[in-house]
Amino acid sequence: MPNPLSSTPLPATVPVCPVRGSVIYPTMVQHIDASRALSIKAIEAALNGDKVILIVSQRDKDVDDPQGADLYDVGTACNVLRVRKNPDGTVQMLVAATARVRVTRYERGEYLTAAVEALETEPGDPVELRALTRELREKFETVAQGGRIGAESVQAIQSKEDPGEMADHIAFHLDFKLEDKQAVLEAVRLTDRVRRVLTLLDTEQEVQAVQARIRAQVKEEIDKNQREYYLREQMKVIQKELQGGDDGDEGDEAEAFRAKIEALGLPAEVKKEVDREVNRLARMHPDAAEASVIRTYLTWMTELPWNVRSEDRLDVGEAAHILDEDHYGLEKVKDRVLEFLAVRRLRRERAERGELDAAEVNKGPILVFTGPPGVGKTSIAQSIAKSLGRKYVRIALGGARDESDIRGHRRTYIGAMPGRIIQGIRTAGTKNPVILLDEVDKLGTSYQGDPSAALLEVLDPAQNQHFTDHYLGVPFDLSEVMFIATANYPEQIPPALMDRMEVIEFSSYIEQEKLEIAKRYLLPRQLTANGLKANQLSFTDAALERLISHYTREAGVRNLEREIGTVARKVARRIATGEVKRVKVTDKELDRYLGQPRFVPESEGQEDKVGVSTGMFYTPVGGDILFVETSVMPGKGLVLTGQLGDVMKESARAALTYAKSNAERFHLDRDRIENSEIHIHVPAGAIPKEGPSAGGAMVTSLISALSGIPVRHDVAMTGEMTLTGRYLPIGGLKEKVLGARRAGIKHIIMPKANEGDLRDIPLHLRSSMRFHPCETVDQVLDVALVGGLKALETPRGPAAGAAETAPPPAKRRTSRRSPGASA
Ligand SMILES: Nc1ncnc2c1ncn2[C@@H]1O[C@H](COP(=O)(O)OP(=O)(O)OP(=O)(O)O)[C@@H](O)[C@H]1O
Ligand SMILES: [Mg+2]
Repeated sequence: MPNPLSSTPLPATVPVCPVRGSVIYPTMVQHIDASRALSIKAIEAALNGDKVILIVSQRDKDVDDPQGADLYDVGTACNVLRVRKNPDGTVQMLVAATARVRVTRYERGEYLTAAVEALETEPGDPVELRALTRELREKFETVAQGGRIGAESVQAIQSKEDPGEMADHIAFHLDFKLEDKQAVLEAVRLTDRVRRVLTLLDTEQEVQAVQARIRAQVKEEIDKNQREYYLREQMKVIQKELQGGDDGDEGDEAEAFRAKIEALGLPAEVKKEVDREVNRLARMHPDAAEASVIRTYLTWMTELPWNVRSEDRLDVGEAAHILDEDHYGLEKVKDRVLEFLAVRRLRRERAERGELDAAEVNKGPILVFTGPPGVGKTSIAQSIAKSLGRKYVRIALGGARDESDIRGHRRTYIGAMPGRIIQGIRTAGTKNPVILLDEVDKLGTSYQGDPSAALLEVLDPAQNQHFTDHYLGVPFDLSEVMFIATANYPEQIPPALMDRMEVIEFSSYIEQEKLEIAKRYLLPRQLTANGLKANQLSFTDAALERLISHYTREAGVRNLEREIGTVARKVARRIATGEVKRVKVTDKELDRYLGQPRFVPESEGQEDKVGVSTGMFYTPVGGDILFVETSVMPGKGLVLTGQLGDVMKESARAALTYAKSNAERFHLDRDRIENSEIHIHVPAGAIPKEGPSAGGAMVTSLISALSGIPVRHDVAMTGEMTLTGRYLPIGGLKEKVLGARRAGIKHIIMPKANEGDLRDIPLHLRSSMRFHPCETVDQVLDVALVGGLKALETPRGPAAGAAETAPPPAKRRTSRRSPGASA
């Protein structure tokens, strides 16, 4: 390139055009845009004069109207080659840089001028220069490979012969700081200049290396994500191809499961298992048998409430209100539930203050409700759930015989399913429902393992946090579930289970209670059920009482509710056909709706009989009375019939011995006793009458038969006797009394030792019956026989005792009886 400087000598003063943020070096030809008046004026001055202008950098590019002090002292003298005015008033100028110059003085008029002197380049040590130059070429080449400079510029720079020029161009093209570029301009000695640029290149090289490393890391990260994405996409395509190019919904199926699973917030252990199955599903042909197994499994897993719970209502007052709304009486049960709530509430408050472990809040006893059928065990459990604000699920355990009923089948079985507990949880849809384990006493066992063992794990607070259903294969936390169990026969609950539970006994209802329940709960419920309004059907109290005593005989109120329902249905029909507008049912009208009474109270219309006494028994389904009949006929020995258990047989022998040893006093004919067949019969269906409590009834029946003195029909007795005539205590007094009362009995003979049990019997009932606590068999006979002990101890005419006594057959009773009774 011709050096224009050689042709134009440098004037002593030149106009100055300040530039911001860049430095130009000699031998370069550059466009410069000027918009500031200061610069435009300077350009005009140069054009009008020597066409030489000084390009110099501002120390601070933000200064708009720079003075001399704002500019560096070293700049570049340029020849102005061309100037073009833009329409917006700015000016574009093409310059050729000619020389490094030092400014000795700036002056400011309309524009800046500078007094300048040329800076002559010094070569420095030639050997050093050569070495530096070689180094410069090499380093530049590596830096250029970083790709920051355009290929053309790289070539132009590499073709430079002059090391100074080369250094200048490198400095110009690379992204150095302004001070560094200015320093290169100011470096007059070549060796210095090259060394400076080498240092800059070094730094640049390092920066590039770091940059490359960062880029690589980022790329790796992206690659990993992308790889998975690509693979999955590829798999979808492959699957689509295999299925003959149809829509490929199946690939999305796995995706859909993935999305659901993400939303569940599963524990890590569970998540791992589920993820594994989803991945298997994604790889599988959708029609494969295995795929449908996995699909069912994943559906189960995604539908379980892993993290869904309902908020407990721990307001004790509110809960009490709800319990009362649904159930009459049952005070013990309601109290227990309210205590439970109160404890739970205190615990939660303590846990909130950090005084108690959160896991402890849920710990509580497992309640088991025991008692006869129809007394509200199942239905109050439902109210408990309602009062707690929890979901309610009932799990019927009757007939559960295998472990898998509770814990499910392993997935390897065809048609495998989770067990009843997990099924219940899914039905509830929350992880803290009230689960009613209905009829725990009906659990069976089989060779397939014992379901009660699995239930143990379910109920044990120490273990149920990790309850593992075979089907799920992963633990599900049951610790927040409130379990309630029910049973008719608590003795039949496996002992290990019973051990973990707190028993709450429900007893039979007496008539008054049934009346109240019928009026307040059953009738309104049946009205609603049959579409009747409250004013369309009513019962008189007498009608309900008759309904209770003549149409039902039960411990609970289930049949009562059914009978009321029957009446309501029939009334509904009459109203619907327009026959009547409203109906009030009286006791006289009951048979119009319900037909003949099904039960007649035992004592009603009955008379005092010789040889027939009334005993009492109870079963878990309620108490009742039974008759003991004795007949004395020619023959020999003691004959016992009716389903008499061993204990009852012993009682019969004891009674006979007592009669013999007191024959004198009671005026009984000893010879006749020896020479007769004495037949004792307990005509009470299929009850194996175990349990030593019919001794009193037997001895009364026997002595009545032998003496010919009738037994009072309104007296029922319970109690066991010794050979010496003491009267001993028995169990189940309350249920027996309630049963006797249902049968219309007015007098109860009971062992004195059982007097304490009377406290359990409601007061109004106690006052409507008479209780005769006895310590001896004599006292029993005194109450039970017509005329009392006196009649027995008074000598009778031979006819009285000698007559063959065969009692008329006692009226058979139709009450329901279950096995397991004790008399
Ligand atoms: N105290 C009561 N107040 C109101 N209704 C009652 C009461 N006791 C029982 N019932 C009603 O009687 C019916 C039968 O009760 P439930 O089914 O709970 O009996 P259960 O004790 O579970 O009997 P089982 O042992 O046969 O299962 C239900 O409709 C229930 O609402
Ligand atoms: Mg029930």
